[in-house]
Amino acid sequence: MEIGITTGGINDQKTDAAVVNLFEDVKAPGGATGAVDRAVRGLITRLIERREIRGKANEITIIHTPSDAYDSFVPDRVMVVGLGKPDKFDLDRVRAVNAVVVRAARHIGARRIATITHGAGIGGLEPEACAEALVEGALLGLYRFGKYKSDSEGDSRRDLEELAIVEMDASKALALEAGASRGRILAEAAIRARDMANEPSNAMTPIRMAEVAQEIAAGTDGLECRIFERDAIDELGMRTFLAVAQGSVEPPRLIEVAYRGDPDNPENNIWLVGKGITFDSGGLSLKPSNYMEGMKGDMAGGAAVLGAIEAVAKLTPAINVTALVPATENMPSGSAQRVGDIVRTMNGKFVEVSNTDAEGRLVLADAITYARENGARRIVDVATLTGAVGIALGSGNSGAFSNDDSLVSAVIAAGSKRGESMWRLPLDEVSKRQNESKIADVKNTGGRSAGAITGAHFIGEFVGDTPWVHLDIAATDVADKTRGWVPAGATGIPARSLVQLVLDLASGT
Ligand code: BES
Ligand code: MN
Ligand code: ZN
Repeated sequence: MEIGITTGGINDQKTDAAVVNLFEDVKAPGGATGAVDRAVRGLITRLIERREIRGKANEITIIHTPSDAYDSFVPDRVMVVGLGKPDKFDLDRVRAVNAVVVRAARHIGARRIATITHGAGIGGLEPEACAEALVEGALLGLYRFGKYKSDSEGDSRRDLEELAIVEMDASKALALEAGASRGRILAEAAIRARDMANEPSNAMTPIRMAEVAQEIAAGTDGLECRIFERDAIDELGMRTFLAVAQGSVEPPRLIEVAYRGDPDNPENNIWLVGKGITFDSGGLSLKPSNYMEGMKGDMAGGAAVLGAIEAVAKLTPAINVTALVPATENMPSGSAQRVGDIVRTMNGKFVEVSNTDAEGRLVLADAITYARENGARRIVDVATLTGAVGIALGSGNSGAFSNDDSLVSAVIAAGSKRGESMWRLPLDEVSKRQNESKIADVKNTGGRSAGAITGAHFIGEFVGDTPWVHLDIAATDVADKTRGWVPAGATGIPARSLVQLVLDLASGT
């Protein structure tokens, strides 16, 4: 989709639909909506009087305005979108509203639409941020994973070709352009992650994940990619990673993509470590089939960190970032690890594998040790780690765990700027004891209670004093229903938040 900034009036656009807005319960539209209303001889006001337009959040009203019916109005249709209550209005509403707008436009077969910047007027938001949110909303909201539908809707009702962001005040054009271009880069980070996580496990194998990482590095200046195969992983001593991989005929890969935005200060760095289980059957602790459905998405954390670093390289912040993904399947077989096996991790600790289905923490343990041995000064790991996090926080919040108040605040703040809610859970000593093993240093499960916390505690065994945040995205990585800027399927969470975090850390905000 082409997205451009146009200086002029919304009334003058030759477009399939002109998009204006209304806050909830406003009786007399003002601004651009008022101008359109006057041009169409008060039609919008009449619809408001009849309560057909109420301004409720995400409400869409399509009004046909054939060009020969009005003297001073050009667009073929007007779409009035509800912005909801003014006190609830923010950038995430702009994203959601525009996502709903573009889907409605696609549904009626519109190819080109023109919109005003919702919120830049009486909404009181910065024009640049508004344009950014509009573009994020459009690209994320229109997203669909159609490549395996031979007869997809995409054939008969083609996607939008053009979104014009229309602004009267020419002095704002530069800011709007800047916002729009950032919005696209950010949206593409999440789209990259969605595309990877939506692929089935027979397509998105560890080898394929490594290839995608190489494609990302080849396609973006400033990225270096290293891939470690089984022997190299073995040489590094990553035995818990390999213990998970040993049951599968698909070979594992350790994927490392580095961006050096502050080469003179190697310590100014952050490592983004993403769980890359391309299929989680549970291993010998086999999942029941209804729990196995969806386990192609168990590499969503890995996908998010790869999507994020691609965007980071395009935005060139002054900080060093490494994305690291231990990628493997978790399968049962004659060569699979057994329940009760004791495995030596890369940092020397012995782990009793009390459940082979707690495999994410095993691969992350070694990946985090690798990050620390290579000079990581901050670590954020992202993982579809536990079903328990969804019981605790639902599908509207990722779980955040940390040994560092300031880093976790930065992560949660970055999430909130991008409309990706994260909620901190404790790492308390009572829960930690649940991971104690009778025979090894630690075991990889801690029982039913506090399941998300014991999972995080296990990873915490390997971070030492490095500032660290663990994000458990097991309930936020996939959406079962389309809502706002998240179509059903892989969400791409938290790729955009990670990009925001990197930008914030680089600029010291
Ligand atoms: N990948 C799963 C977690 C998961 C569950 C992700 C549901 C998405 C949706 C993880 O590897 C797992 O199996 N966790 C176990 C841990 C348990 C054995 C301690 C779980 O949550 O049951
Ligand atoms: Mn598992
Ligand atoms: Zn898993």
